[in-house]
Amino acid sequence: MSTDSLKRSRVALKVIPSIRALEGDGFEIRRPFPTNWLDHVDPFLLLDHMGPFDLAPGQAKGASAHPHRGFETVTYVLDGEMQHKDSAGNSGRLIAGSVQWMTAGRGIIHSELPGPTLLDHGGRLHGFQIWVNLPARDKMMAPRYQELPPERIPQAETPDGSAKVVVIAGESMGTHAVIDTRTPIMFLHFTLQPGACLFQAVPDEYNALAYVISGEGRFGSDERRASEGQAVIFGSGDEVRLAAPEEASEPVSFLLLAGVPLNEPVARYGPFVMNTRDELVQAVDDYNAGRFAPISH
Ligand code: CO
Repeated sequence: MSTDSLKRSRVALKVIPSIRALEGDGFEIRRPFPTNWLDHVDPFLLLDHMGPFDLAPGQAKGASAHPHRGFETVTYVLDGEMQHKDSAGNSGRLIAGSVQWMTAGRGIIHSELPGPTLLDHGGRLHGFQIWVNLPARDKMMAPRYQELPPERIPQAETPDGSAKVVVIAGESMGTHAVIDTRTPIMFLHFTLQPGACLFQAVPDEYNALAYVISGEGRFGSDERRASEGQAVIFGSGDEVRLAAPEEASEPVSFLLLAGVPLNEPVARYGPFVMNTRDELVQAVDDYNAGRFAPISH
C-alpha cells in the first residue's frame, strides 16, 4: 500500500463572505476576517483584500503613519506600487509582485502609501494585507523587516503548466520560500487553469484557509464551490484538494494560508494585538508616551 493512500484530505468546513470596510486614509477593502462572525483563524488575525481599483491621477490612498505591536503585517502587491517607511529605519518600494513581511514585535510606526507613479499618473492598485500573530515569547522582540521584489519570490508550476504557485512562505511543488517566519506558516498564491486539480500538502497540526482573488474554484475533498471574495476554512487532514472546474471561462486565482495555531489568548485593540488586556493598556501607554520611535528619515 502506498503511503499516499494514508493521507487524509481536508474537507471545506465552511465558505464565508467578505465584508467591505474602509481602511487607512479611506480606501475600501474586502475582509473575510475579522468580522462579527469570525474573529481570526489562528495564527492569522486579519485578511484585507485591497482593490483591484482603477485609479485616476491623485486618487490613490494609503495609510499614513500609525503604530503596531505584537504581530506581523504582510503586504503582497499584485498591481500598482506602494511605498513604505518605518520607525526602525526601513523604507521600501513595493512594485507589482512584491512581498513585505514586517515583524512589528515590541513596536513600530509605519506609513504605507501609494507609490509616486501611481499617485501622479493613476493606474491599477490591487493587493493584500495579512496580519500574522506572534507567539507570546516573540511579541516584544525587536522589529524585523523582510522585503522581496518579484524576481526573488520562488515560483513553481505543474509539468503541463495548468497550475502555478508563488511560494511566499512555506513549500509547494518542491519549492521552498525565501521568507523566514517565526512559527510555521504557509502563504501560497495559486493560479489554476480550467480543469486543473492538485493536492497541496498541509501538515495536520496547521489551520488552513483559502481566499479567492478571482474566478471560481472547488476546494477540499468535498469540492466546495467558492468564488471571488469568499474564504474557505478547511477541516483537519494532511493535504488539501484544490481544483478549477473544467467548464470555467477563466482561471481561478487564490491564496492558501496555513499555520500552526498558537493556542494563546488574543487581546486586540486596533493596531495592537497582545495576550492580555493589561498588555494592551501598556501598549497604548507606551505609544502615547512616545516610546515607539518616530519615523525619522
Ligand atoms: Co500598518
